Amino acid sequence: MTRKQTDSPTEALTRRDFLKLGLGTLSGLALLEMGGASLLFMQPRSLEGQFGGAVTAGPVDSFPVGSVTEFPDGRFYLIRADNGGFLAVYTRCTHLGCTVNWQPAQNQFFCPCHASSFDAHGDVENPPAPRALDTFLVQIHDSQVFIDTTRMTRRDRYTPDQLTYA
Ligand code: FES
Repeated sequence: MTRKQTDSPTEALTRRDFLKLGLGTLSGLALLEMGGASLLFMQPRSLEGQFGGAVTAGPVDSFPVGSVTEFPDGRFYLIRADNGGFLAVYTRCTHLGCTVNWQPAQNQFFCPCHASSFDAHGDVENPPAPRALDTFLVQIHDSQVFIDTTRMTRRDRYTPDQLTYA
């Protein structure tokens, strides 16, 4: 009876070495992939144009006096008051944090969770919300309106000095 050449001890050792090499290579690739994915995950993200960053709202003249414009990505409403001043209010209700909706027909912000309402400057009209909507820093440069959503101000009431003018 003859043995097949492939069963020789030398051949078996080669196969084992080959398997070790293959497993080692696959493990190395998996580690490399995990490392690369981790590096991508840890890279700082630019939040330009969205909540957590600076938002360019647009030219001053594109916001009519007495208007409210929603910026969903920035999570704020840009108010242009009747006297031309600007105010950016956070969409988060000051009661328990639900998102408020602008209701133009009622000229108010309304919270669907517990029916709080806020006037056109974000001041509380109807509790249980305990205070006015928070605001973000508004800056105007070269007739462009910018909102910095990293700079939030907590306020109890609306006062006219909160408005920013061109
Ligand atoms: S969360 Fe807005 S009224 Fe309660």
